[in-house]
Amino acid sequence: MEIDLLRSYPKTKRNTQARSEEKTPEVRAIARQFGEQFFDGERQYGYGGFNYNARFWQPVVPDLKAQYGLSANSNVLDVGCAKGFFLYDLQQVIPGIACKGIDISEYAIANAKPEVAELMQVGCASELPFEDNSFDLVMSVNTIHNLERDQCGQALQEITRVSRKNAFITVDAYRNEEEEARMYEWNLTAKTIMHVDEWKAFFKEVGYTGDYYWFIP
Ligand SMILES: C[S@@+](CC[C@H](N)C(=O)[O-])C[C@H]1O[C@@H](n2cnc3c(N)ncnc32)[C@H](O)[C@@H]1O
Repeated sequence: MEIDLLRSYPKTKRNTQARSEEKTPEVRAIARQFGEQFFDGERQYGYGGFNYNARFWQPVVPDLKAQYGLSANSNVLDVGCAKGFFLYDLQQVIPGIACKGIDISEYAIANAKPEVAELMQVGCASELPFEDNSFDLVMSVNTIHNLERDQCGQALQEITRVSRKNAFITVDAYRNEEEEARMYEWNLTAKTIMHVDEWKAFFKEVGYTGDYYWFIP
């Protein structure tokens, strides 16, 4: 179902116009390597410094906990976990919860938050190295749209396969022409961006049965 489980994530004001002007093919190519430049290089390549701050994920975890009944007995996978900040906050708010993270970025995994580094590994969302039905909840926030449509569909199937219960993803989307224009101004790395109705049809087509919401800049 469609549900905004990131409603408590702090909102940021984005200057989509400035981003649009800086975005050359070279800048996009560097960003898409998901290396040091994307996380900790200049702002034009991505985050402009990807640092831990409890104010981001700590308010979100209670909403996930309530929605999915998470407890110390649950286990969670974060696909596109970056430096592990969500995993860290999950364990802060729900002590004892088991979790794992996977990300395509060797840089992010090598620079992970030390407390959760051993829970994380390098890998691609379209080929998850886990058994069927391994996790109570599989999360993937703003990650699978970085794959081409076919691979993105595979990632959705992989998320469904390794989840024994719940899944929650967010993807780049738009609901009208104005949002579409802002999305294309803002987007640096995504390869699959669709109208929300197209996403819903795509979920059905590939057999994704989890929950979802949208990233709309
Ligand atoms: C916009 S960041 C989001 C990070 C984190 N989920 C968050 O919300 O803070 C996208 C993340 O997806 C990762 N990523 C990109 N392509 C991926 C793939 N094919 N498989 C797994 N992770 C991928 C990037 O390295 C990056 O950490």
